[in-house]
Amino acid sequence: QTIYLSDYTPPAYLVDSVHLTFKLGATDTRVISRIAFRPNPDATSKEFFLHGQDLRFVSAMIDGAPITPDLSAEGLRYDAPDAPFVFEAEVEISPSTNTSLEGLYMSNGMYCTQCEAEGFRKITYYPDRPDVMAVFTVRIEGDLPVLLSNGNPVAQDEGWAEWHDPWPKPAYLFALIAGDLVALSDTFTTRSGRKVDLNIWVRPGGDEAKRAFGMDALKKSMAWDEEIYGREYDLDLFNIVAVDDFNMGAMENKGLNIFNASAVLASPETATDADFERIEAIIAHEYFHNWTGNRITCRDWFQLCLKEGLTVFRDQQFTGDMRSHAVTRIDDAMVLRAHQFREDNGPLAHPVRPDSFVEINNFYTATVYEKGAEVIGMLKLLVGDADYAKALDLYFDRHDGDAATIEDWLRVFEDVTGRDLSQFARWYSQAGTPRLTVHESYADGTYQLHLRQETPPTPGQETKEPLVLPIAVGLLNENGAEVVPTTVLEMTQAEQTFSFGGLSSKPTASILRNFSAPVIVKHDKTNAERAFLLAHDTDPFNRWDAGRTLAQDLLMRMVCDNATPDTGFLDGLAAVLRDDTLDPAFRALVLRLPSEEDTAQALFDAGHTPDPAVINDVHETLKLHIAQHLQDTLPRIYADMSVDGPYTPDAEPAGKRALGNAVLALQSKLDGGKAAAQQFASADNMTQQLGALRALLQIAKGAHELAAFEAQWGHDRLVMDKWFALQVSLAPADQAAATAEKLTAHPDFDIKNPNRFRAVFGGLRGNTAGFHHRSGAGYDLLADWLIKLDPLNPQTTARMTTAFDTWKHYDTERQTKIREALERIAGTSGLSGDTHEMVTRLLG
Ligand code: ARG
Ligand code: ZN
Repeated sequence: QTIYLSDYTPPAYLVDSVHLTFKLGATDTRVISRIAFRPNPDATSKEFFLHGQDLRFVSAMIDGAPITPDLSAEGLRYDAPDAPFVFEAEVEISPSTNTSLEGLYMSNGMYCTQCEAEGFRKITYYPDRPDVMAVFTVRIEGDLPVLLSNGNPVAQDEGWAEWHDPWPKPAYLFALIAGDLVALSDTFTTRSGRKVDLNIWVRPGGDEAKRAFGMDALKKSMAWDEEIYGREYDLDLFNIVAVDDFNMGAMENKGLNIFNASAVLASPETATDADFERIEAIIAHEYFHNWTGNRITCRDWFQLCLKEGLTVFRDQQFTGDMRSHAVTRIDDAMVLRAHQFREDNGPLAHPVRPDSFVEINNFYTATVYEKGAEVIGMLKLLVGDADYAKALDLYFDRHDGDAATIEDWLRVFEDVTGRDLSQFARWYSQAGTPRLTVHESYADGTYQLHLRQETPPTPGQETKEPLVLPIAVGLLNENGAEVVPTTVLEMTQAEQTFSFGGLSSKPTASILRNFSAPVIVKHDKTNAERAFLLAHDTDPFNRWDAGRTLAQDLLMRMVCDNATPDTGFLDGLAAVLRDDTLDPAFRALVLRLPSEEDTAQALFDAGHTPDPAVINDVHETLKLHIAQHLQDTLPRIYADMSVDGPYTPDAEPAGKRALGNAVLALQSKLDGGKAAAQQFASADNMTQQLGALRALLQIAKGAHELAAFEAQWGHDRLVMDKWFALQVSLAPADQAAATAEKLTAHPDFDIKNPNRFRAVFGGLRGNTAGFHHRSGAGYDLLADWLIKLDPLNPQTTARMTTAFDTWKHYDTERQTKIREALERIAGTSGLSGDTHEMVTRLLG
């Protein structure tokens, strides 16, 4: 059943307070609710309907009198009074058989919840929509030592605990945890003097030593949000719990954030630098939701980007402040291009604010999250930092306690700046990635940029309107000096020309600095100009991007015209690598080639049919050329990148390790893996251990190290996820599906654990040449396992179907095989609504 944004109506009844009692039992948890309802004066309908799914109804009462409501698979209806009343109900649920990991479920003996977006309806009958906000009091009864819910503890004793959350909230922010848990505790004092108790809870038996970094990240996040956004924490307690079985990264439940263990637990021996950085960002993200998401929530799920786009934007700012702004921006742009541009260019394209959906869980996407964040970055660039700060203050003042909309969000910017944002608002409703075509001319000291924007059609949106594009431009003279510093051009028309006068010679333009808008730039620069920008651009993003474009262009010429790597490109790379004044993290990024998937997308975009096998060959060839060209430099750089002293995950040593590992991978192409085997043997941290293993597997070596790794880490789930993933993602193309299949028979493979399932099948889809091997074995295996997973966990199944979203880019043979796989999934009897919606959209 499709739901439309335009059909929104206010709730018929509002909730003043909720009292819940949980009598925990693995297969027979009783949930007793007492809910104070009152008619909503703004309602257009008077129907009393409560969502409810997979509940065993026991009894219900209104104002103390038993009632017999109408029950359906979706919920409960009753002819309720048109006046305030108290509704009470008792239902029974079975957490231990709930493999969907939505609602109340069990993970390794621990009770836990995931309610966003619509999971609360699997706990009890309730108006499960974000515009119904209420104060919750929760009593938990169960013989487990730790019983947690939102807000502050009220009272507890052997076998029970009571919690009260003073902040009205929608049901999706409800959480409950019960288990045998141990906390790392700390405190944070807010700037107005509130002392907040902080805890990170894990199950005892191995994870205790992995909590310190997360605690540190939490305290940094709390201080940052006070300093940069003026936002303080608003309870006396903040709990984080690590859970092994979790569909997503983490969840911002009020005062009780629940995390996928992989998104919070880290130690030097078990987590890579990239893991540490990701954990820091996710802790910050969930913490920042306390204001952007919880205090101000969404009116309905179409407004998801209101909280997610803004919170991603905030966590990206935080990462930039904690680490390097240039490197963070490059990382974020790479993610956006790899995932969001891909989404925009296929059958799953949708606007940042979708206008319809069947299953909202299918819209927790790169478009809503990452493009949603880009839209906020553009807004900030257009209005300037000072007005952005004023607009955010007004947003928090005006909407605290509200379930708000994108219109509300844009209105605060209009009110602060006096701007008309009606054209800018198209970023929220129009899907697709704009192509920005650049032509330039120069005469008599005047340089002109002729810009044209065009957004290709996306499903359901044939014609597109021009968007407001902030285009940051700088001009460089022939010595690499800036003759025009970064200037933001505001493009509003389909075609526009911008002039720069008073120049003494034709400049080189650096366009879309710092990736100022999420567009694809089409600019026929010569490779000499690109090499010039790679050597001289004063904007680090564009300096990196010049190298990236050179590499992508070369790879495409190698695929299409059998070109061989030119020394111009290789020398440019060498110059950056040898430039000790540059941040090693930045040099590592320049050295990293576009992925095979990136090349496939670029080829398709240029009108070719990508062949993953050829792309794989060409990438290998180019890496070998680079290794040979840099052969004299590699050992020197590798030695320079060694880090003294004990491991810390800070940006500086992490950057050195990143460059060291990049060099090691190249070196391995020349020395048969000698240096990599040495690094593997001597590594005292996961970054270098895994970097070495990766370098070995990439040259089809490392069997011994793979076994040693398993022997060393077999007891550690999170590390073993890496072991599963790496083998599949780096398997030779013709063995990828067989490797994945073999691993599904490993005793530690567990279809019910999303991290493990994603390790194997995420590894498979990430092995572009392997997944798309012409035998079709990759497609068949993934389809088989998605069909097996769907009845257990529809959400993770539906998400994994996106592996097929580029299928129309390929040759007829591959397309036929993928279509068959998708049709086989679609034809499975009893298929979940989640997966059905995805395969239907994919098939188009
Ligand atoms: N709000 C969470 C976050 O952004 C994501 C929860 C998504 N859950 C889901 N079932 N789709 O951190
Ligand atoms: Zn979020």
